[in-house]
Amino acid sequence: MSVLVTGGCGFIGSHTVVELLEEGQDVVIVDNLCNSKIEVLGKIEEITKRKPKFYQVDLCQKEELNQIFQKEKIDSVIHFAGLKAVGESVREPLRYYQNNLISTLNLLEVMEKHDCFQLVFSSSATVYGDVKKLPIKEDTPFSTTNPYGTTKRMIEEILTDVAYANPEKWRICILRYFNPIGAHSSGLIGEDPHGIPNNLMPYIVKVSQKELDHLTIYGNDYNTEDGTGVRDYIHVVDLAQGHLKALEKIRKSNGIFIYNLGTGKGHSVLEIVQAFERVNQVKIPYVIGARRPGDIASCYADVTKAQEELGFVASKTLDDMVRDSYHYVQKNKTH
Ligand code: NAD
Ligand code: WQD
Repeated sequence: MSVLVTGGCGFIGSHTVVELLEEGQDVVIVDNLCNSKIEVLGKIEEITKRKPKFYQVDLCQKEELNQIFQKEKIDSVIHFAGLKAVGESVREPLRYYQNNLISTLNLLEVMEKHDCFQLVFSSSATVYGDVKKLPIKEDTPFSTTNPYGTTKRMIEEILTDVAYANPEKWRICILRYFNPIGAHSSGLIGEDPHGIPNNLMPYIVKVSQKELDHLTIYGNDYNTEDGTGVRDYIHVVDLAQGHLKALEKIRKSNGIFIYNLGTGKGHSVLEIVQAFERVNQVKIPYVIGARRPGDIASCYADVTKAQEELGFVASKTLDDMVRDSYHYVQKNKTH
């Protein structure tokens, strides 16, 4: 039997495919490559010496997805596929609702049709919005502030209803990721955003390559230790391993489960910049700018539930994260 990984060519998906293959599981990837490259497949093979099956299919095309389930023996699904840029979702809400919701509805329908009831879903800490009580626990109410976040909230609600309707069949694990950064230690796979990045680490990486001349730190007047925003950064390989723990969980128990995946520790923007400079021996010029609309001061996870129920603990340090992010870009320089 195989694990179907939707969005398996993307940043988190590709790292999870590596972990699955290395654990001996068989993998089928479905990705329409709208935000990833086919070359990732060769890199996955180089790392693992195993080849996942691949279908270039858009999940919004239900019949094509159905045919994959007809051909392959799929017993569980990890669903990463989706659009994920917050700012873009504000400008193009319909595209986000269309892509993220329709693809998930199609997937659930096709899974039911083929008696496949084990699903791990990529949600996000963005479903918590601007939380006052830190660290954030899973029972914090939803409060989304942009269409991207609302697609995650809506999908979580759909999954809850689906599990409620058929509790003896469905086995669903919702994972709420905090801020994934880093890359595989081989330097073969990592994060490759198109154009000017929105997120902090890809931006720092481009400054380190002199593709952008400086970082703008969005505000140093927050109520945090040094005034800059605090987030819970988690190494993408730790995050990938969290998915294997989630699969293990739903293979043993039916029902629906929700977990934060983070380290439980917050780091400020300045701390990230300083760690990047120290570990990689490279200068990151920066200026302090205005706050970015919609940003919050601090966000970090309470990780007790994932630790107790999944046995998941992130093991990589901030130094590992900044080293691996830099290693990836250095190894893949095109000039
Ligand atoms: P990514 O863009 O690198 O990967 C997503 C993959 O899905 C891409 O390869 C893309 O081509 C594919 N895809 C998108 N729509 C598709 C469709 N309709 N049919 C088939 N393939 C499709 O993103 P990522 O950072 O790896 O994120 C993976 C998941 O985790 C996403 O659902 C994202 O919302 C969620 N998430 C990401 C972060 C983060 O900071 N990276 C944080 C929280 C949650
Ligand atoms: C981190 C910190 C910024 C860029 C976003 C999504 C969230 C999730 C992860 C998907 C903040 C500061 C950033 C820059 C800066 N994705 N910053 N200069 O906003 O925590 O979360 O990605 O689910 O939904 O909202 O991540 O990396 O954009 O920002 O100073 O050029 O870095 O203000 O404090 P964020 P980020």
